Amino acid sequence: MDPSLAALDHPGTQPRPLIDPFARAITYLRVSVTDRCDFRCVYCMAEHMTFLPKADLLSLEELDRLCSAFIAKGVNKLRLTGGEPLVRRGIMTLVASLSRHLASGTLKELTLTTNGSQLARYADELKAHGVKRINVSLDTLDAEKFRAITRWGDLGKVLAGIDAAQAAGLKVKINAVALRGVNEDEIERLLTWAHGRGMDLTVIEVMPLGDIEEARLDQYMPLSMVRARLSERFTLEDIDYRTGGPARYVRVKETGGRLGFITPMTHNFCESCNRVRITCTGTLYMCLGQEDAADLRAPLRASESNDLLNGAIDEAITRKPKGHDFVIDRRHRAPALARHMSVTGG
Ligand SMILES: C[S@@+](CC[C@H](N)C(=O)[O-])C[C@H]1O[C@@H](n2cnc3c(N)ncnc32)[C@H](O)[C@@H]1O
Ligand code: SF4
Repeated sequence: MDPSLAALDHPGTQPRPLIDPFARAITYLRVSVTDRCDFRCVYCMAEHMTFLPKADLLSLEELDRLCSAFIAKGVNKLRLTGGEPLVRRGIMTLVASLSRHLASGTLKELTLTTNGSQLARYADELKAHGVKRINVSLDTLDAEKFRAITRWGDLGKVLAGIDAAQAAGLKVKINAVALRGVNEDEIERLLTWAHGRGMDLTVIEVMPLGDIEEARLDQYMPLSMVRARLSERFTLEDIDYRTGGPARYVRVKETGGRLGFITPMTHNFCESCNRVRITCTGTLYMCLGQEDAADLRAPLRASESNDLLNGAIDEAITRKPKGHDFVIDRRHRAPALARHMSVTGG
């Protein structure tokens, strides 16, 4: 571990646990460590994105301090995301440093969501630092289609990354966004492939985040359609399995594997929400589907002690809304939220 990071457990009065106004305990923090990415997925980013000035980003030390403050307040699951978390320079320093909370038992899980492009390089290190499971986003197994969806991505590299992750002993879950007219006829193939390799598959509905130069309505496909289509070939049995996330799972009888559905547009999963998100500039979003946010960078930088920071976090949690109100606006074709998914990390 980098000793300069290890020394960052900051003094202050005893932090309070995070309980929101609807009596939900906040135990899960998702951290976008960068808004940058080596892909430009059509549902996530415009081809020509304006990224944040580097000077606005929290340093790795500040990210560590922020995450540690949340952990001291009862967060026991941390997910690094982005943008692409593995393109943030020095990211392994942060992973190594955060792993001290795994060693102490205060953090139950440290994980990440990645596009897989850098996994061949980092899989062993992730495993060595205590990461057990990762999510890899992959919407198609067709190399040309993959290039069309990601604009810049190379399927071969991602598949090599998944190989490396499994070889390192990481449990991999595949996340696929269902896209009308793009991969709707391929979910079956993805399912057979993922389950054949011992990986769960989760299918996600497109969410209306950020202006992406393409029409959302054209991309949107309700998962009820995906499910109906899969049911023609497979026996889908509802199961109780929960990962603490919004996915509802079924067991696929023929493959023995698990299939998850995340349906923000058609199903409200907010009642049991246990999570908040921070961006790489230290903005706290209490809900993925709402604009309300709190700046944590100013209190973080204002003092060596964590008292100001803890106060700002407590105040923000009192504003955690009951739920989101996503809607794909059929009249105006505008995104429900101007923020891109790469800012808050999904
Ligand atoms: C923003 S990415 C960040 C992490 C990493 N770059 C990756 O792709 O896994 C996290 C997840 O959000 C999903 N995503 C991005 N934009 C989305 C949208 N508009 N609707 C639904 N899912 C989206 C991606 O497919 C990915 O699974
Ligand atoms: S979904 Fe992930 S890989 Fe694709 S552009 Fe967004 S951040 Fe990058």
